[in-house]
Amino acid sequence: MTGREDPYPRYARLRQISPIVRAEDGALVVTGYDDCQTVVRDARFGHLPPDLLAAVGFPDWRDHPALLQLFTSMLALNPPDHTRLRRLVSSAFTARRVAALRPAIERMVADLLDAMAADAGRPVDFVAEFAFPLPVAVIGELLGVPAADRAQFQTLVRDWTQVLEVITPEVLARADPAAATIREYLGGLLDERRKDPADDLLSALTQAQAADDRLTDEEVLSSAALLFAAGFETTTNLLSNGLVALLANPGQRDVLAEHPEAAVEELLRYDSPVQIASRLVMADVDVAGVTIEEGERIVAYLGAGNRDPQRFADPDELRLDRPDNAPLSFGGGIHYCLGAPLARLEGQIALPALLARFPDLSLAGAPQRRDSLSLKGFTAMPITLTATPADLG
Ligand code: HEM
Repeated sequence: MTGREDPYPRYARLRQISPIVRAEDGALVVTGYDDCQTVVRDARFGHLPPDLLAAVGFPDWRDHPALLQLFTSMLALNPPDHTRLRRLVSSAFTARRVAALRPAIERMVADLLDAMAADAGRPVDFVAEFAFPLPVAVIGELLGVPAADRAQFQTLVRDWTQVLEVITPEVLARADPAAATIREYLGGLLDERRKDPADDLLSALTQAQAADDRLTDEEVLSSAALLFAAGFETTTNLLSNGLVALLANPGQRDVLAEHPEAAVEELLRYDSPVQIASRLVMADVDVAGVTIEEGERIVAYLGAGNRDPQRFADPDELRLDRPDNAPLSFGGGIHYCLGAPLARLEGQIALPALLARFPDLSLAGAPQRRDSLSLKGFTAMPITLTATPADLG
């Protein structure tokens, strides 16, 4: 399956065959809500320790910047290294820091909407003009990445994160130079902050490192790169997938305006920006009624679990006021998304403001899908807006 297809009919067919199936690449795949939760929450599912990557065909992984940056980040580590790195980032990425961002996010949204209003009547690319600039500005402000430097990371991060799919020489040929550029850039900023700290997350990371001498420069750099990349790539897709779903269901606009928290949960469920979570079976375990042996690879199809009819009534319908909604979109267990409160806040502010400002916003052509199974979203989305009387005045 390529990322350009609509995966949901395929998920439904897989579910009909069996709750657990073996994919062409040998990995096991689960599609049910409960089974996906087991895979992301149970400690018997983990990641391959980096020193064993040689055994699975990556003897030179440290020489590939794209793999080095992924496999030394918390996303790919098991405890105790995972615990150490997660503590490093969560000590700096506090709920207080996130909640304090609300006024700044509201201001950024208003500024981007003003800029788009200037293009009323002409097709504009929603991804380039809103869905990417907002989250990259938010995480850029938080980390301390200067505004003028941010735009280049849209393509760099897209190329690097292709290694979350199947890793081939072609993928590495694009992902490595992209990751090398990201590392050089963020490494330079971290060095500056070590000498001259500011009130930002990069400085907070270097200060946490100064207080814990087990943390290596490599680990701090991979943490910064993961935070930056995860901070905008997925949220860009929440905004663009969310807009497509909202445009297809115009009758639910009132719910979005009145209950943005519930609406964003449903948009996350309906079309999750992260579709899969992959794990290694660390000890024999029963899933979906079968015993899986240690050493097997298993993939939780979060996007399929989010449409599991045993968990959600009429799962293929968007219901922004869906009761008892708990999508799998942020994963679960020890790797539960560290940025979930921030991503939610951005969606809850941005989408209602967008549709309030441009009530007759419409698609002006076919959106371009990102060619990826794990990160689902769009690279471009032409829309047209009509200026409201205030804009014309
Ligand atoms: C709608 C937006 C987002 C979605 C759907 C999302 C989804 C996810 C998922 C599914 C995971 C777990 C992956 C796994 O278990 O294999 C994850 C982990 C993570 N996310 Fe997010 N994310 C989003 C936004 C963000 C933001 C805004 C940030 C940072 C500012 C962020 C930072 C992270 C980090 C650091 C991890 C790794 C946590 C760990 O391994 O312990 N994410 N995210």
